[in-house]
Amino acid sequence: MLVVFASKTNNVMRFVEKLKFTNRMWVRTGNETVTQPFILITYTTGFGEVPSEVSAFLERHHHLMEGVVASGNRNWGDNFAKAGRLISYQYEKPLIHEFELAGLQQDIIIVEKGVDQIGLFREE
Ligand SMILES: Cc1cc2nc3c(=O)[nH]c(=O)nc-3n(C[C@H](O)[C@H](O)[C@H](O)COP(=O)(O)O)c2cc1C
Repeated sequence: MLVVFASKTNNVMRFVEKLKFTNRMWVRTGNETVTQPFILITYTTGFGEVPSEVSAFLERHHHLMEGVVASGNRNWGDNFAKAGRLISYQYEKPLIHEFELAGLQQDIIIVEKGVDQIGLFREE
């Protein structure tokens, strides 16, 4: 599965590098293009907001998104990793996981299992 990710201060980038999925694309401007299904992994910005480059990218590509994962910081309380919940709700796609900063080993396991499950459903 292709992993499309957004990262400003490299936490998500470090998380993505630990995943077993090696097919990755970094959304830096929002003008990137994909032609195959993908999982999105994004950070949260503002006060519980979706990064603007991610919003721009999804406007054109949400139909290929199979699920979303979000990073955040628990210091932000109710806004923790809220970008993932917003995207999941807006595009009616599964929220696979929320993790803090660059994530822990347990977060890697959860995301890999979640993505594998989505892959199984797609093949049926
Ligand atoms: C300006 C700013 C606003 C942020 N707002 C939130 C927020 O609302 N909720 C949250 O959970 N984390 C928030 N964060 C934390 C980041 O989402 C978190 O550090 C994330 O791991 C960053 O990923 P990155 O290093 O890949 O950019 C914010 C960070 C910054 C710098």
